[in-house]
Amino acid sequence: MKLLHRTPSATRMAMRTAVILLIFVVVFTSLLAAVFLWTRPAIEAAAAEEKMKLISEVLPRELYDNDLLSDRLQLPPDPALGADEASTAYLARRAGQASALVFEAVAPDGYSGKIRLLIAVTADGTLLGVRVTQHKETPGLGDYIDPRKDRNKEYPWIRQFDGLSLATVADREWRVKKDSGRFDSVVGATITPRAVIKAVHKALHYVAENRRQLFATGGGK
Ligand SMILES: Cc1cc2nc3c(=O)[nH]c(=O)nc-3n(C[C@H](O)[C@H](O)[C@H](O)COP(=O)(O)O)c2cc1C
Repeated sequence: MKLLHRTPSATRMAMRTAVILLIFVVVFTSLLAAVFLWTRPAIEAAAAEEKMKLISEVLPRELYDNDLLSDRLQLPPDPALGADEASTAYLARRAGQASALVFEAVAPDGYSGKIRLLIAVTADGTLLGVRVTQHKETPGLGDYIDPRKDRNKEYPWIRQFDGLSLATVADREWRVKKDSGRFDSVVGATITPRAVIKAVHKALHYVAENRRQLFATGGGK
């Protein structure tokens, strides 16, 4: 008796492999999508908490009773903010009245590039606080702009901005003392503070020039 041994053709083999691969791709993509959808609310909540933690360093809680993170406006790119892309600002309101604005500014000319800042200003133009959110300044030299790195824990360098405004500090004073201004700096590391002071000063002018739109009670929700 003659045995007929049929081997699948190459085309059939290729088809079978392709179908198996396709099943794997579909199953794993669906699994990934499910995990993403399942964890997204927790990730968003953690990001919001992180943002609020930083904002709370510059904005006193008693200044607002609104949901800050949803009361936001898009600021178009503006050289006065050092920004080449749009940024988000948050409007603090108390009893429906705009009380302060929290926004980002960039100092483009740090010793090692951009220094990103979070700034809070009251509706009358007074600085509530400034924090560095991102920088590449030299550890142990220029990084004293970040209060976590500043050796002066009692009165970190960045707190010199608290309470200042264009009304109380003349334009020529927005400099380090070495350049005849009012700001302290660490000897041997004045490039970094110069960049930060300049950026904050410019940002205050931006707020003054755009106050009406920025603090409009209708907001830019
Ligand atoms: C390796 C290196 C890293 C430096 N990093 C910084 C820095 O992060 N920030 C800064 O302001 N100056 C930094 N400097 C010093 C600046 O080049 C500059 O000398 C100094 O800021 C000027 O400060 P002064 O006016 O007090 O002399 C660094 C210098 C060197 C050699």
